[in-house]
Amino acid sequence: MNEDSRTNNPSWSEENSSDFVQYGKYFVPDREEQIEIICSLLLAQGRVYRVLELCCGEGLLAASLLERIPNCQVIGLDGSPTMIKKARQDLAIYGERFRANMFNLSQNNWRHEYHELDAIVSSLAIHHLEDEQKRSLFEDCFHMLAPGGLLVIADLIEPASEEARTLAANAYDEAVQQRALALNGDLDVFEKFQQLRWNDRYARLAEGHWLLRNRCILAKSRSCNLWGL
Ligand SMILES: C[S@@+](CC[C@H](N)C(=O)[O-])C[C@H]1O[C@@H](n2cnc3c(N)ncnc32)[C@H](O)[C@@H]1O
Repeated sequence: MNEDSRTNNPSWSEENSSDFVQYGKYFVPDREEQIEIICSLLLAQGRVYRVLELCCGEGLLAASLLERIPNCQVIGLDGSPTMIKKARQDLAIYGERFRANMFNLSQNNWRHEYHELDAIVSSLAIHHLEDEQKRSLFEDCFHMLAPGGLLVIADLIEPASEEARTLAANAYDEAVQQRALALNGDLDVFEKFQQLRWNDRYARLAEGHWLLRNRCILAKSRSCNLWGL
């Protein structure tokens, strides 16, 4: 996919990318644990060579996969020029083992390009899709994976009720405050978090493999019957 196929994405702007690069370490308080679990799930899978990351952002998960899994190659896809540029710069040390390309997650024109993948991973992005788009993506992921290949998604889940949303939102506020205090010793970035209304968009109740505050990790192997395909 070439550089001109950039997205006109109403749910994510270049400004969001800059904010996320600057404040992600505060706004995703459990990020290290999340990345660690995804790496462990792939390592437990055995031989993992070709990994596709959907919405790789600046490449933090890809960098950990490249460090932790010997000889694996990661193709990172994202719709933000800011993110792609930073990922390419930061992960240049991995040479041919990392490639980053523009794509639009909600379109399917890129999906025929990938086959026999050992794993597809994605973190904090698939929630941007509508339900029907998610269904179509998951079906296509099944076909992009090699037999036994693994799909791992860390993401947000819609709250079951208003009460659940409030609980998740409060827990998220609390976690960002703690993170800001631990890393900076003050609440300046928490004020930024409120000003950007990040919690309004991201507070979700989660369920799944790993459940912490408002996020979860789901994993499914292509050999597993539960795909229902
Ligand atoms: C919250 S960031 C997460 C980035 C990275 N996965 C992480 O966990 O640090 C969401 C990412 O999804 C990308 N994104 C959102 N919607 C997209 C779309 N429709 N097509 C391509 N990328 C998209 C954004 O550019 C951004 O890099």
